[in-house]
Amino acid sequence: MARDTPLSAAASAAAAPFASQAAQGRDPHMKQRSLAQLRHGMAFKFLIGMGAMAATVSLAWGLFYLHAFGFDTPPPSRTGAFHLQLIFFTLLMFAAMAATLYFMLRRMVLLPIRRIIAGAGQMADGEHDSLLQMQTKDEIGRLAQAIHRMGQAYIGSQHELHRQKNEYQRLFELVPCIISLQDRQFRLIGYNREFRDHFDPTLGDYCYHAYKGRHEKCENCPVEKTFADGQAHYSEETGRSKDGATTHWIVKTAPMRNEHGEIIGAMEISLDVTHRKALENKLAQSELKLIQAAKMATLGEMAAGIAHELNQPLTVIKGAGNYFMKKIRKQQPIAPAVLAEMATEIDSHVDRASNIINQLRQFGRKSSTAAAPVQINTILQNAFEMFRQQLILCEIAVEWRLAADLPLVLAEAGRMEQVFVNLLLNAKDAIEAKWRDGPVAQDETKRITIDTQVQANQVTARIRDNGVGVPAHCRDRVFEPFYTTKKVGEGTGLGLSISYGIIKDFGGTIQIDSVPMQYTCFTLCFPIKEDHDRQGCPPIAADSG
Ligand SMILES: Nc1ncnc2c1ncn2[C@@H]1O[C@H](COP(=O)(O)OP(=O)(O)OP(=O)(O)O)[C@@H](O)[C@H]1O
Ligand SMILES: [Mg+2]
Repeated sequence: MARDTPLSAAASAAAAPFASQAAQGRDPHMKQRSLAQLRHGMAFKFLIGMGAMAATVSLAWGLFYLHAFGFDTPPPSRTGAFHLQLIFFTLLMFAAMAATLYFMLRRMVLLPIRRIIAGAGQMADGEHDSLLQMQTKDEIGRLAQAIHRMGQAYIGSQHELHRQKNEYQRLFELVPCIISLQDRQFRLIGYNREFRDHFDPTLGDYCYHAYKGRHEKCENCPVEKTFADGQAHYSEETGRSKDGATTHWIVKTAPMRNEHGEIIGAMEISLDVTHRKALENKLAQSELKLIQAAKMATLGEMAAGIAHELNQPLTVIKGAGNYFMKKIRKQQPIAPAVLAEMATEIDSHVDRASNIINQLRQFGRKSSTAAAPVQINTILQNAFEMFRQQLILCEIAVEWRLAADLPLVLAEAGRMEQVFVNLLLNAKDAIEAKWRDGPVAQDETKRITIDTQVQANQVTARIRDNGVGVPAHCRDRVFEPFYTTKKVGEGTGLGLSISYGIIKDFGGTIQIDSVPMQYTCFTLCFPIKEDHDRQGCPPIAADSG
């Protein structure tokens, strides 16, 4: 039975890692066969060596015997001289055998092993082919080859590891997002190129200092939340870049865990949205300009009604003036009671005219985007006031059904007024179109209904008219910019699309419901501003206008 010698065991041990690493993709049975051959060869040589030694010892004893007694001599008597000779000769034999063994071991094992050790050292220093010079075909030579291949495989895998590490490092550096890694004390333990380009970081600096120049942790820090619950968190942040410019970025965080699953840090990935913010601001500015332009257009459309509205007080004042001049020309006195009555009349009509002008000035004023708690009933009434005269001229009756104790909503009064003015103007135009083009039932009268209600935590306002109505296939289109069925010069088609944007800005909704030639109803809903007190608004007497 073949037993493992130390050398063959070393060869197996040396070849084992190689078998798993270097020979990837080769036949595993072939590897096992060559290892078994290596072990068998070494055992065989060991047996031959032992046999040769036994033969040498036997031969030496035979020669000694012949030299001492010759072929024909009977065995000697055991004298003291014989014993001494025997001991001396045995010692001599052992010394000779030991010397021979030592020289054989030194030549065949020790020196080659030293060369292998030196070669392995050189390989570690980067001289990869030093072990290849040991070309002998014995076990030592094969051991050197095995170690060489193992070394090559190890070096190859090290190169691959380095290559992968460099690739990942390069990718991390080049990711087009700002990335920073932070420990649990919010200190920077790593960051990529984009982060360096934006800010002026140093490793170990606190993140709030690196990102925002702060000296204490930010409120609502997404990284802190990630440390607390191990989840990803989002936020939108503003700070200063290294050139001093205001920078906006959106953040997503993720926890970094060790092999036991404990959170040891956090990764913060940010996307610079400064450019997008600037565009949004520009867009908001353009939107405001558009709203303003549409307002001016609405004022233009209302010009006839406004002129009539102003004409009435002016006519009264002019009449009073004419009366005074006539009396003065005729040098007739004016009774104090008449004078007082006329003065009161003039005063009230001047108030009425200046009221109209104030309302127009307010309507024409540039809108802001600041929302405040407002009372929808009041806004509806203000919008209606600008129309009152126009609706009287067109013989349109307005029915009011306002909720008495309507909660406030968060909006901007001027912009909301613009919404209602457009809805009323559209209602008036639709009614006029129906009465112009027909058909109209004999007992039908021109009518607009305005109502407000509280429904499921929302304030609802409805404006309903009995005009031409909107066909089903056009209902979705009425909110599109520039969609209009009016003649050129009568409508821009912007009114409802701007109204839609304004309502959305305040978290509200607008819906249309209509049956052609019967009615159109616009329903507006706004979330109630809970924190503020309700400001009741007394219902207006039905059927005004
Ligand atoms: N109450 C309504 N009844 C019937 N059709 C309506 C009503 N309100 C709006 N529409 C239809 O929707 C279209 C778009 O209305 P929108 O207010 O956006 O623009 P416009 O009134 O045509 O012009 P602008 O308001 O810019 O002066 C109108 O042209 C009309 O066809
Ligand atoms: Mg309109």
